[in-house]
Amino acid sequence: MNLSELNKVAEAMVAPGRGILAADESTGTIKKRFDTLGVESTEDNRRDYREMLFRTKDAMSKYISGVILYDETIRQKAKDGTPLVQVITQAGSLPGIKVDKGTKPLPNCPGEVITEGLDGLRERLAEYRSLGAKFAKWRAVIDIAAGPVPSYTCIRTNVHTLARYAALCQDEGIVPIVEPEVLMDGDHDIDRCCQVTEMVLKLQFEELYFQRVALEGMVLKPNMVVPGKKSGKKASVEEVAEKTLRVLKACVPASVPGIAFLSGGQSDEEATAHLDAINRIGDLPWNVTFSYGRALQAAPQKTWSGKSENVAAAQRAFNHRAAMNSLAARGEWKADLERKAA
Ligand code: 13P
Repeated sequence: MNLSELNKVAEAMVAPGRGILAADESTGTIKKRFDTLGVESTEDNRRDYREMLFRTKDAMSKYISGVILYDETIRQKAKDGTPLVQVITQAGSLPGIKVDKGTKPLPNCPGEVITEGLDGLRERLAEYRSLGAKFAKWRAVIDIAAGPVPSYTCIRTNVHTLARYAALCQDEGIVPIVEPEVLMDGDHDIDRCCQVTEMVLKLQFEELYFQRVALEGMVLKPNMVVPGKKSGKKASVEEVAEKTLRVLKACVPASVPGIAFLSGGQSDEEATAHLDAINRIGDLPWNVTFSYGRALQAAPQKTWSGKSENVAAAQRAFNHRAAMNSLAARGEWKADLERKAA
């Protein structure tokens, strides 16, 4: 492992004012998104949509440090024959790859899942590296529900798997994004989210230690601490920022170069406001930024709606969201900037 190379890439992924575009929806997930827009999910449509994002010049060169790709996309060529990986690197951004193979039911833990994909991972990482990937992503999913959910078994098994993935990535010269996502779908309050997120992150860093993962060569992708969607409760932006930071400070060593949040079902503007409030508190031991999927893509996707005549407007929408999140990553976003753009 060349730790100084890994550290350089990790630092670039979370460079001040820049964050990550998660464009790694599986074929099934992107089909669901396209279905709501009435767009057929063909290989060409998926390519055209993602090429449109990667060719958004300002966003990609100023605000987006890296892009998480799906297996199909890392192998695809733009309409003019340029590999999409090259389109991304020419814009000044880093290509990354989702390497987990999704979730399966976890035995003996009703309603809980384990993320699979360790078998053959070393060989897949070597291939992805040859295709240009500088970093990888693996997402574990921890639900909060009635009864014993999440179970200790589910948390322990998932964080162990994430740590084994991270160790393999570093051994193959690829920076791992470690993503133990506590879902915001339940009816729990913000304090329950706080409690579960804290336990997940404590155990996550213990497992990373046992697997000898170099913290300087990874990026953490956690959820923010928010009330469950079905709770009907709303927390203020300040409360989310304060509780999220309290948990992170208690669990994440300062040697981790950066934390890049997932959006997890928050609206575009909520995800931006929360990130901004966290950075406004300031004086943090890590760079704190975004690694958003839905919160970066919802607006451009809808504007595009599969029509080539909408490409310029969709690129403006993507550029705007990326610019807003870049300001939030510096703690310099203002709500009126959104209203002016509307
Ligand atoms: P969301 O921001 O839509 O949660 O997606 C981020 C991601 O990469 C989930 O794994």
